[in-house]
Parts: sequence; C-alpha cells; structure tokens
Amino acid sequence: MKVIRTTEELRGFCAEARHSGHSLGLVPTMGALHAGHMSLVNEARAANDVVVVSVFVNPTQFNNPEDLRTYPRTEEADLALLDAAGVDAAFAPSVAEMYPEPDTRIFDLGAVAEVMEGKMRPGHFNGVAQVVSRLFDMTRPTRAYFGEKDFQQIAVIRKMTELEGFDLEIVPVAIKREDDGLAMSSRNVRLTPEMRAAAPEIHKALTAAVDYARTHTPAETIAWTVARINAIDGLDTEYFQIVDGPTCLPIDNWQQTSAPVGCVTVYAGDVRLIDNIKFS
Ligand code: PAF
Repeated sequence: MKVIRTTEELRGFCAEARHSGHSLGLVPTMGALHAGHMSLVNEARAANDVVVVSVFVNPTQFNNPEDLRTYPRTEEADLALLDAAGVDAAFAPSVAEMYPEPDTRIFDLGAVAEVMEGKMRPGHFNGVAQVVSRLFDMTRPTRAYFGEKDFQQIAVIRKMTELEGFDLEIVPVAIKREDDGLAMSSRNVRLTPEMRAAAPEIHKALTAAVDYARTHTPAETIAWTVARINAIDGLDTEYFQIVDGPTCLPIDNWQQTSAPVGCVTVYAGDVRLIDNIKFS
C-alpha cells in the first residue's frame, strides 16, 4: 500500500488510476479505525478497481477544542489495518498540507444542516463539507463510502455534492455494531467500564421504540424512548428526533414520510454517542 502525505501526490495517483480506466473508491475517515470503518473499506474493495482511504482528523469540523484534542489518533495501527485489507493508497496528510490557507468557504447546505447535529454543533457540517469537498476534488472518485451511524452527515454530503457538481456515487454503509448492540465508534474507547456497560441500552431502546411506534405517534415515541434511555444511570439524552430520512426534517405523523429514521445523541458520562434506527 502506498502511503501518500501530499495533496499533489494524491492528485497524481488518482488521475493516473482514472486515465487507466479504473474505477476509484474513496473512503474518507478520521482514523482510529475499527470494524465499522473496515466494512466501508471492504465494500469499496469489492466494487472498485482502486481504493483510496484518507486518514485525517479534520480540525475544521470540531466545534469543541477539547473533543479535537482528545480524539483518538492511532495512525500506525490504522495503516497496518488498511494495508492488510488490500487498500491501494492511504492518504494521511498534515493539517498544514490539507489547509495551506484557512478554508473560509461557507456552504449553503440549507435545512438539512440546521437540525439535530447542525443545531448542537454549530459549524460542524460546514467543516465536514470543506474537508470532503477537498477530498472529492483531489481524488474525483467513482464512489465514496460513508457509514450510516452518521446518518445526517450523509444527507449533508449529498447536498454538498450537488452544490459543487461532483459526479460520483455516494454509498451509505449500514451501521456496524458490537455483539451487545453498541454502534461501533472511535469514541467508544473513551467510555469508562461503567459507561461501556450502560451504552448498549441506547440501541436496545431504539429497537424497542420501533415496536412502540406501531401504536403511538412520533411525539409519544420520542418521549417514551428518551425516558427509557435517561432511566439508565449515567446516560443523558441530548436529543432524539424522528425525521424524514432524505431531508432529516422532523415529522409530526408517520404519514409524512416513507422513510422515517430516529436519530439520537446520548452522553454516556462525558462521551457523546450517536446512533439511529429506521422505523420503516
Ligand atoms: O465521518 C467522519 O469520520 C468524518 O466526518 C469525515 C467524513 C471523514 C470527514 O472528516
């Protein structure tokens, strides 16, 4: 596997692949790779001639400096995993290489970026749009892979892709879970043993919510689910919303969408976890 550190080399590598008629799969990551990331890599590997994985903790998407400081960084182990998975190139640039000048672009992402994570983490999605648009521009991939744990992020990236006119397929990949149901996340390593034991209750509550929703309105389902999660010691729901999948806008009744999705953010101690479930 080639380890690429400069944007110039990345552009050259990808241009050559495209000129040779190869399809190119891009998997953007912030490293601290786990089996969830590797399922994106494996899907990309199965569908493309050439696979590029980026490993870059993007500072412009962190609205909380402490979160950026404590974000796990495990580059050596990440590169070994990617090599073993048959990735062709890993792009692991420095911040100065990725942003030689501050990125001042503001993307007109609209309502999809204003609710839920957009509301709780001001500027977060603009930062995601900045880095992903740079990666798309440098690699011009045939397909790009994103995990459905960050459900809203996929909708935002679709919007950015449309705004910027990138010609590629966005491929959402299903959430990968631990055996006890906890959604895999790089942040899970920061959970205390007590919070690690409590955290699977989030997915259990979401699964139970799908049953409950059969005989209740979205508002009733939300109240019931939040109460159930918050009843567990140490878990504190920041928000739980039931939204129309493609737009991420909240729904008042089940008839409003054919693709309802429940999106939740829960503090497990001081670790912020997100998860979601489809209600259809
Ligand atoms: O989902 C992530 O890990 C990040 O938001 C992404 C898409 C790699 C952009 O930094």
